[in-house]
Amino acid sequence: MKKKIIAYLALLIAFFSTGSLISMLYITFTTSELEKIISLHSVEILRQDLVIKIQNVEQDLLTVHTELSDRLDKIVLNVQDLDSAVDNCKKCHHSPLINQKLDRLRMHIDKFKSSLSYYITASADDERVRSLKMEAYNAASGLLDMTTEMASIANKRLQERTQKVIEQVKSVQQILVLTLLISLLIGLWISFRLTRNILNPVRQLMDVSRKIASGNLGSTTSYTDSTEFGELAASVNDMSLSLRESNQKILQNLSRLTGLYRLTLPLHSFSSVNEIIREVSFGVAEFLSVEQCGLLLLDHKSGYFEHAYPAFGLDETQAGFLRISQSEVLDLYHANNGKPLIINNLPESGLTEEIAGKDGWAAHNLLFGWVRPKGTLTGVIRLANRRDGEFDEESNRLLGIISNNVSVAIENAQLHEDLRLQMQELKEAQEQLVQTAKLAAIGELASYVAHEINNPLTSILGYAELIKDESNLENIMRDVEIITNESFRARDIVQQLLEFARRRPLNMQEIDINSILKDVVSLIRVQVKDPKIQLHETYAELPLIMGDPNQLKQVFLNIMKNAVDSLSENGGEITIRTSRNSAQAVIEIADTGHGIPPDVLPRIFEPFFTTKREKGTGLGLPISYKIIEAHQGKIEVKNRTDRGTVFRIFLPLMR
Ligand SMILES: Nc1ncnc2c1ncn2[C@@H]1O[C@H](COP(=O)(O)OP(=O)(O)OP(=O)(O)O)[C@@H](O)[C@H]1O
Ligand SMILES: [Mg+2]
Repeated sequence: MKKKIIAYLALLIAFFSTGSLISMLYITFTTSELEKIISLHSVEILRQDLVIKIQNVEQDLLTVHTELSDRLDKIVLNVQDLDSAVDNCKKCHHSPLINQKLDRLRMHIDKFKSSLSYYITASADDERVRSLKMEAYNAASGLLDMTTEMASIANKRLQERTQKVIEQVKSVQQILVLTLLISLLIGLWISFRLTRNILNPVRQLMDVSRKIASGNLGSTTSYTDSTEFGELAASVNDMSLSLRESNQKILQNLSRLTGLYRLTLPLHSFSSVNEIIREVSFGVAEFLSVEQCGLLLLDHKSGYFEHAYPAFGLDETQAGFLRISQSEVLDLYHANNGKPLIINNLPESGLTEEIAGKDGWAAHNLLFGWVRPKGTLTGVIRLANRRDGEFDEESNRLLGIISNNVSVAIENAQLHEDLRLQMQELKEAQEQLVQTAKLAAIGELASYVAHEINNPLTSILGYAELIKDESNLENIMRDVEIITNESFRARDIVQQLLEFARRRPLNMQEIDINSILKDVVSLIRVQVKDPKIQLHETYAELPLIMGDPNQLKQVFLNIMKNAVDSLSENGGEITIRTSRNSAQAVIEIADTGHGIPPDVLPRIFEPFFTTKREKGTGLGLPISYKIIEAHQGKIEVKNRTDRGTVFRIFLPLMR
C-alpha cells in the first residue's frame, strides 16, 4: 500500500511538474516576445521622433530666406537631431533588411542635408534658390515617404508579433487551466483509488474480525493483494484458523476429560470389585473405542492373571481362555517402566494365543494398563483392536489415568468389602453377645421369676386349698379375687419376660401418632387416680408415619408409667407434647418427678435394671428402646435442670 501511495503521489507530482514546466517555458518564451514587442514600440516612438524631425526640417525649409531666417541655427540643430535619430535607429536594428533601409535613409538624409545646405547658402538668383528649395523639399518628402514606408513595415511586424504573443498568452492560460484541471482530476482519481484500496480491505478485515469475535472461529477473508493489507489479511486468516484449531483441540480435550470424568467418577462409588469389572469393561471400551476390553485379575493360587467376566466383546468362553502368567506380566510391566504397554505389531510380537486370542477374535493390536491397588500389581486392563486404527500415545496416556483410577477404586472396594465383613462380624458378635447376655440375664432372672411366680402360685394354691373347705360364699369370693389377682401378677411377669425375649415382627402401617398418644394417655388417666398428678397434652399437626401401632403404644405406655411412678410420692405434672423437625416426628414425655440420679442414668436401658425392687422388672425401657430402633427412630432422655425427666422419641416421617 505504501508503494501504491508513493506511486500515485509520484504520478500526480510528475503530471503537475510537466504541466508547470510547459507553462514555464511558454511564459518564458512569451515574456521574451513581449520584450521584443516593447522594443518594437520603442522603435515606433523613434520612428515618430524621426518623422517629427523630418517635418521640422521640412518646415524649416519654408523659413529660409524669410524674415524668420534668424532661426538658421535652429534648422541646423534640427538636421543634427535628424542625424542622431537615425543613429539611434541604427543602434537597435541589426537585421540586414532594416540596416539596408536605414543606410538608404542615412543616404537620403545626407542628400537632404546637402540640398538644404545648398538652399540655405544660395543667394544669386531667385530661380536657383527656388529650384534648390524644391530640391530640398523633394528630398525631405522622399525622406518622409521612406520613413513612412519603414514605419508601415515596422507597424505590420509589430501587429503580427503582438497577435502571436496574445495567442501564446492564451496558450499558456489554456495549458495552466488544463494542467490544474487534469491535476485535480488525477488527485480525485488517486483519492478515490486510495480510499477504495484502503476501505475495501479494512471493511473485509473488520467483517472477519467481527465473525471471529462472535465465536465463529475459522472465518477467513478472501482478500488478497501484495500490500500490507494483503499481509494483514493473510495473518488474520492464519490467526483465525489456528484459533479454530486450538479451540477444536481444547474441545476435544474437554470432551475426553468429561468422558474420563464420567467413566472414573462412578468407579469410586462402587463397593464391589465385580461392579468395577463391569464398568471398566464396558465404559473403557466405549471411551477408547475398542472391540475387546476387560480386566485380568491375579489369581494367587494359580499364579496367573485370569480374564474376568463380563468383558466387552468377549463371551464367557473367550474370556476364560485369556490368561497371562504373573512372571510374564511383571516382565512386560517392568520392560515398559510401569507405563501402559502398546503392542501394535501383532502377531510378530510373539505373544501367545492366551494373551492375543485366537481364530476370529484374535487381537491385531493390544493395549495393557496396569492395576496396582496399594502398589501391588494385581490387575491388567486389556484393550484389543482399536476401531479407528492403532493405539497411540493419547490412548496410552488416557489408559494410564484410567488404570490409576481403577487401582484406587479396587483398593476402595476391597476396603469397603473388608469393612463390610468386619461390620457383619461385629454385628454377629454383638448379637451373640446380646443373646448371651439375655440368656445370662434370663438365667439370672429365672430364680427371681421362679420366686416371683412362686409367691403368687403359693398364694393361689393356698387360697385354692382354703376354698375347698370354705362354705361361706363371701369368703370364697374374697379368696377367688386374691387367686385372680395373684394369677394376673404371675401372668404379667411371664408376659414381660416373653416380650423381651421374643422377636416380634413389626406390623408396619400408616399411623397417626397423635391419636395413638391420645389412646395411651386416656389409658393412663384411668389408672392414675391420684389428684396430685396432672396430665397436660399439646399436639402439633403431624403427617402420617409408618409404624406398628401396638408396639408404639407399649413404648409410650412404658415411659408414661415410669413418669407416673416418679410422681407417686409428691405428685406433679406430666406433659405430653408432639412436634416435628425436617424429617422426624418428635414425641416428648416430660415429668416433674424425682428425676434419674447421674449414676443410674447410663444404665436405664439395660435389661432388668430397675430401681423399683420387686415392683419393676427393669424391662420397660429396654423393650421400648428395641421397638424405637426397629422403627429407624431414636430415643433420648434428659434430666431437667429444675426437676424431673424428659424422654424424647424421634420417628421418621414418610417420604
Ligand atoms: N421418668 C422417670 N423418672 C425417674 N426414673 C426413671 C424414669 N423412667 C425410668 N426411670 C428409671 O429407670 C429404671 C428402668 O426403667 P424401666 O422402665 O426399664 O424399668 P422399671 O420401670 O424399673 O420396671 P418395669 O418398667 O419393667 O416395670 C427405673 O427403675 C427408674 O429407676
Ligand atoms: Mg418401667
